[in-house]
Amino acid sequence: MCGIMGYVGPRQASPILLQGLRRLEYRGYDSAGIAVSDGGNMTILKAAGKLDQLEAVVAGAEPPGNLGIGHTRWATHGPPTDLNAHPHTDSTDEFAVVHNGIIENFHQLKEELMAAGKTMVSDTDTEVLVHLISDEYEGDLAAAVRKAVARATGAYALVAVTVHEPDTLVAVRMISPLVVGIGDGEMYLASGIPALLDHTRQVVVLEDGEMVTINPGRVVLETLQGDPIDREPAEIDWDVEQAEKGGYPHFMLKEIFEQSQVAADCVLGRLDGSSVTLEDVEWPRGFVEELDKVWITACGTAFHAGLVGKELFEGLLRVPTEAVYAHELRYRDPILEPGSLTVALSQSGETADTLAAARLLQDRGSRLLAVTNVVGSALTHYADDVIYTRAGPEIAVASTKAYLAMLVSQYLLALDLGHRRGALDQARALEVGGALAKLPAQLEEVLKREDGVEDVAQLLAGHDDIYFIGRGLDYAVATEGSLKLKEISYLHSEAMPAGELKHGTLALITEGTPVVVVNTQQHVYDKTTSALQEVKARGAMVIGVAYDDDTEIEAYTDHLLRIPRTLDLLSPVLSIVPLQLLAYHVADHRGLDIDQPRNLAKSVTVE
Ligand code: M6R
Repeated sequence: MCGIMGYVGPRQASPILLQGLRRLEYRGYDSAGIAVSDGGNMTILKAAGKLDQLEAVVAGAEPPGNLGIGHTRWATHGPPTDLNAHPHTDSTDEFAVVHNGIIENFHQLKEELMAAGKTMVSDTDTEVLVHLISDEYEGDLAAAVRKAVARATGAYALVAVTVHEPDTLVAVRMISPLVVGIGDGEMYLASGIPALLDHTRQVVVLEDGEMVTINPGRVVLETLQGDPIDREPAEIDWDVEQAEKGGYPHFMLKEIFEQSQVAADCVLGRLDGSSVTLEDVEWPRGFVEELDKVWITACGTAFHAGLVGKELFEGLLRVPTEAVYAHELRYRDPILEPGSLTVALSQSGETADTLAAARLLQDRGSRLLAVTNVVGSALTHYADDVIYTRAGPEIAVASTKAYLAMLVSQYLLALDLGHRRGALDQARALEVGGALAKLPAQLEEVLKREDGVEDVAQLLAGHDDIYFIGRGLDYAVATEGSLKLKEISYLHSEAMPAGELKHGTLALITEGTPVVVVNTQQHVYDKTTSALQEVKARGAMVIGVAYDDDTEIEAYTDHLLRIPRTLDLLSPVLSIVPLQLLAYHVADHRGLDIDQPRNLAKSVTVE
């Protein structure tokens, strides 16, 4: 997720670009840049770091020109450096491109371009686009962009400019958002409505597979095949804060609703049938075959993702796996055999305990693989391999989409390792790969059921203690459901394996006590149902999370949150969503500060 801003009109472009980028910082903020054209020349200014750094570069050296594009970056390919910041230019510096998203086949395109004598200066996937556009240019920027994007696959939005057409912006939307702002004799382009609201409320929202050519007084909207599209501008009545949240009342809810796209982005270009390509992972010869132990370490929500990982790695690789809280592990004296892999999970890549535990295992000879959302974060500096989760910036303190992206990343990793070790036969690998590919559509389905969750949330909002139970992977999901609830609703909640209840906690279950049960794992279904009967017999109010076609559970539950059927192995990706929504709506009913809960911080960089 990055922010794009474009302007063409009678005014100086650079202040408008900077103001727009400031409004888009919620989309990414690790580096930024602008390209401004005055007719004959194009000036490119970039800076790693927050937008303040770019503003300092621009101050006093404001590039003259009435056309420009700008970008605030959330890195996906290559660390946040000046060189990797956008805009990117071709070798003549006559063309510039800003881009948001992922070009799936950029490795192949890069090789082709380099074989043809092009020099690539950045690590980004974006740079190939600008070379393709300049190669295809024959006096018509729109035609060149059309031909260039026909060679690229992925999910992205881009804007291109050239000194040869000093009043033209050409943009394409392929899944990533892009909006045109209509002014009076001037036009704007942005990846989010907040960037436009200082200038106009008339907008045209591009849809997937559409292209737009913009001049100061004209907007031409077409399909990528060149068929004209007639779309009336819409009038926006949001204020800037509402617009930043995409119209949602809180970032947390927005981020929950982004999860279908997050799952799609995470597998994009990485999963083909059962075969997995992880671009920043390079296993040394023999390592995977000889792997005899996996350590998973993390804190909080990331640790709960690790509990899912433990079941996966043991199930799909048949390798003993230990998931240990990083703040515990770092003060232990772990016994390491040669041939171990540490998977350190951290949304921020900056959590002090996770860094310390990961380094301890690495110092004792383990290979270190980081699963993180932040390119260039501290964890990635130490890691031997990295899987970027590609969830985009997560603003709400309560982690939702980053958790889901960690789950999907671990499925990819398990599939890759399982394949390489020969622990997974082809039929099973195809089954898992196929089910993974279906998750984005199934997540859409779960998210449509928000109203049902809200009804249950109303019933819970007045209770003091809420219990979450499940077995195996369902227990792992229960731990995260419980944490979400307590951190934003301030209600006391506990998660435990369903079989553990009768060893003590059952004493706390009385008439009306809410118990949330996740029950998707068929091999322990009946066992979990027995635990349900035990709590039901004590008068508990039971809320079940179950597959759509599970009718048996109706006899043991008071309320049901349904999910589409998937492989039991993958159910956490779906079953966590109603629990995130439940936590959100309970907190909302209680009128709490959902995005910034008391006493918590987004990133815990101290011990
Ligand atoms: O950035 P990290 O993933 O390393 O953060 C770890 C925890 O601090 C974090 O998951 C925390 O538990 C979340 N606020 C929970 O929503």
